[in-house]
Amino acid sequence: MKEKISIGLLGLGTVGSGVVKLIQNHQERLVHQVGCPVNIKKVLIRDTDKKRDVEIDDTVLTQDANDVIHDADVDVIVEVMGGVEEARTYIIDALKARKHVVTANKDLIALYGSELEEIASRNGCDLLYEASVAGGIPVLGGLADGLGSDHITTVMGIVNGTTNYILTKMDQEGLSYDTALRNAQELGFAEADPTADVEGLDAARKMTILARLAFSMDIDLEDVVVKGISKVTKTDLQYGKMLGYTMKLIGFADRDEDGAEISVQPAFLPESHPLASVQNEFNAVYVYGQAVGETMFYGPGAGSMPTATAVVSDVVKVLKNMRLGVNGRNAILPQFEKKLKQSDEKYAKYYIGLHVKEKVGALAEITQLFAANNVSFEKILQLPLKGEELAEIIIVTHRAAQGDFDVIFQQLNDLDVVTELKSCYRVEGASQS
Ligand code: NAP
Ligand code: HSE
Repeated sequence: MKEKISIGLLGLGTVGSGVVKLIQNHQERLVHQVGCPVNIKKVLIRDTDKKRDVEIDDTVLTQDANDVIHDADVDVIVEVMGGVEEARTYIIDALKARKHVVTANKDLIALYGSELEEIASRNGCDLLYEASVAGGIPVLGGLADGLGSDHITTVMGIVNGTTNYILTKMDQEGLSYDTALRNAQELGFAEADPTADVEGLDAARKMTILARLAFSMDIDLEDVVVKGISKVTKTDLQYGKMLGYTMKLIGFADRDEDGAEISVQPAFLPESHPLASVQNEFNAVYVYGQAVGETMFYGPGAGSMPTATAVVSDVVKVLKNMRLGVNGRNAILPQFEKKLKQSDEKYAKYYIGLHVKEKVGALAEITQLFAANNVSFEKILQLPLKGEELAEIIIVTHRAAQGDFDVIFQQLNDLDVVTELKSCYRVEGASQS
């Protein structure tokens, strides 16, 4: 039994500072849990002149990663520096040096999680990354441990705080997309370059990690179909509301006997769906298991202290494993061969907005195209467009094969009566009809 546990920290930014504060402020709780004090031995930073908002001895700071990774006293490396290639190199070095690793790095785990799990397992080390998805919400542990005995069929998540904040503010306060994005940047949820947030890539990385765990398949980032929110308009949200829907950027992972499908896209949810009430920068992950039924994980998906909570809880897990001598046995290796659904095996329900010419038979022509491709309507709304000889038609379909929708979307623009296919969103979480 060691007298003291030493942590090596790679990064002292938003999350790293939170980790230092949590370890300093919750030391008594940590000693109770792991049986000895936990101290931060070395910290990698880039800029020695930067003012830090944590109390930390200057002698602990270094610009050389080797000082952290190869310090003989360091038991656990906590990687909170971000980026991909450098972080990957350091983590591989650490695992080969038989140091356990905790990381918050979703970009890295989405791309190289399987490779790193395998290296960790081979070296008898733990590799934990709870903070990489939904910040402070213990959803990975919830899936791997809490629901580990079940067969998970669906994971639906609001896993990007920036886009949820933007959509909430556009919907409830009528803010423009640009103003809402600027506010999210000022409040610190958005990445330095918010493209990955608004174009859905950040959520896709998180859904890759969630789907891998939920379905026990080696899902890759490129298996996720991704569409962001940058084209969503206030009008879309208003029409959705008239039909009883709320728009969210939804990460959707679903599987049945035909295979799995994973996507991230702006989608309408019925207002009664549990995810519809998740507001602002909050995250939530809805999980359906065959035995447990519906469950939902909810909380802060980002921020210094929430994310640090997940990181330090992973450190505690590693230390408990050290006391029991069972490190390196919890690698999450896939059980099933990856099987993805083809377009004709996917089913969906759509909200479609069209601008059409105001003329007799226009609606009949549109209806015929849908009927010829086996798609029927659940709801339809027609509104005149002021000052133009056009009407806006909003259609909500019943569920139908994606392949049939693909044909309809191709042919709609060829119809003489349709001047523009204005919007097209999936409707998720509604009844199966
Ligand atoms: P951050 O504020 O930009 O901090 C990064 C830290 O790493 C800084 O201290 C920086 O040093 C250091 N660093 C970066 N590259 C370095 C290099 N090449 N050499 C030496 N030091 C380097 O980032 P963050 O927001 O804390 O995010 C860290 C990780 O957590 C990322 O993977 C992120 O995706 C993940 N994450 C963040 C959140 C969140 O709410 N922020 C939530 C979940 C997950 P200097 O301070 O000297 O510049
Ligand atoms: N930019 C991310 C978000 C931070 O908005 O959710 C947390 O991963």
